[in-house]
Amino acid sequence: MMKAIVYNRKLPEKLVLRELEEPVPGKGEVLLRVRACSINAADYRSMKLGIPAKHGVYGADMAGTVVAVGEEVTRFSVGDHVMGDLTLSRFGGFAEYTTAPEAVLAKKPEDMPFETAATISLAGVTALQAVRLGGEIQPCQRVLIFGAGGGVGTFAIQLSKFFGAEVTAVCGAQNLEQSLTLGADRAMDYRREDCLDGRVKYDRILAINGERALRQYYSALKPGGIAVIVGGSLKQVFGAMAFGFLYAGDGRQIRLLAAKTSAADAAYLAELVERGRIKPVIERIVPLAKITEAFAYVSAGHAKGKVVLVMP
Ligand SMILES: NC(=O)c1ccc[n+]([C@@H]2O[C@H](COP(=O)([O-])OP(=O)(O)OC[C@H]3O[C@@H](n4cnc5c(N)ncnc54)[C@H](OP(=O)(O)O)[C@@H]3O)[C@@H](O)[C@H]2O)c1
Repeated sequence: MMKAIVYNRKLPEKLVLRELEEPVPGKGEVLLRVRACSINAADYRSMKLGIPAKHGVYGADMAGTVVAVGEEVTRFSVGDHVMGDLTLSRFGGFAEYTTAPEAVLAKKPEDMPFETAATISLAGVTALQAVRLGGEIQPCQRVLIFGAGGGVGTFAIQLSKFFGAEVTAVCGAQNLEQSLTLGADRAMDYRREDCLDGRVKYDRILAINGERALRQYYSALKPGGIAVIVGGSLKQVFGAMAFGFLYAGDGRQIRLLAAKTSAADAAYLAELVERGRIKPVIERIVPLAKITEAFAYVSAGHAKGKVVLVMP
């Protein structure tokens, strides 16, 4: 048996600690002892939208140890430390054990703490794919990052700087200092300044959060520029999905990011962390039993970097 956090929308306390049968790995899967799993919008949005999870256990961005391998597993053996994004394999990370297809896993670098590794495969990979969409950011390009203070935004600042961009970070007042420490050239408070007044034009805008009209992002682009809509209000995301194609002129584009689980991208980021080129920002490390408070905090939308749950 194992301890797991099961989501049940009918209960007053929706996330409850339960004893479940340990899962068994299928063909091409491994059984993992989960060591750490961070909380993401993918978890709480999937709960709200009714996207199912294995036995009601959510948790996507995780790191752990292989304790058994299923048939036809070739890349991993018992004892390997790994990390991965379980979104496409129906979650399962908020538990002592879970199964995962080997294809979604990358090796965790030996010296990297499990808590750090559990921030990379979803939040980190999303930021990487956002800075690469439509072509990697080029040195000296001007980049505006809207929603720079959270899990994806803190990776996006560091990756944009790594690729040589000049970065303006947009976040709340409490995150201005953090953005500058992470390397942003400027930081603006979205509650105090109109960050999209069109006076400064950008090569790339990463709309990681926010609720602005698409035309405002569009008019702040240089000719040839790209606004990548990563997240934010449902109006912003669905607006980009339905109407983004209407915005096109001077080669300017509005693109919606649909991040794809990628063990190769996670391994690339892990190497950057190992080389000290980027550093995942972890605001809180919380025991699994405290998941309700941690969830309420993250889903309120103002986390400073990542909140990571650790298993008993
Ligand atoms: N497209 C994809 O494939 C994909 C993949 C993963 C995630 N996402 C989406 O990406 C978004 C961000 O994820 P995350 O993990 O970084 O979330 P997060 O960790 O909860 O971060 C939220 C951040 O957004 C900032 N924020 C809140 N309201 C804002 C506003 N009105 N304007 C500007 N910034 C605002 C907050 O900053 P302050 O505290 O400073 O206010 C906070 O730092 C979510 O909407 C998520 O659904 C999309």
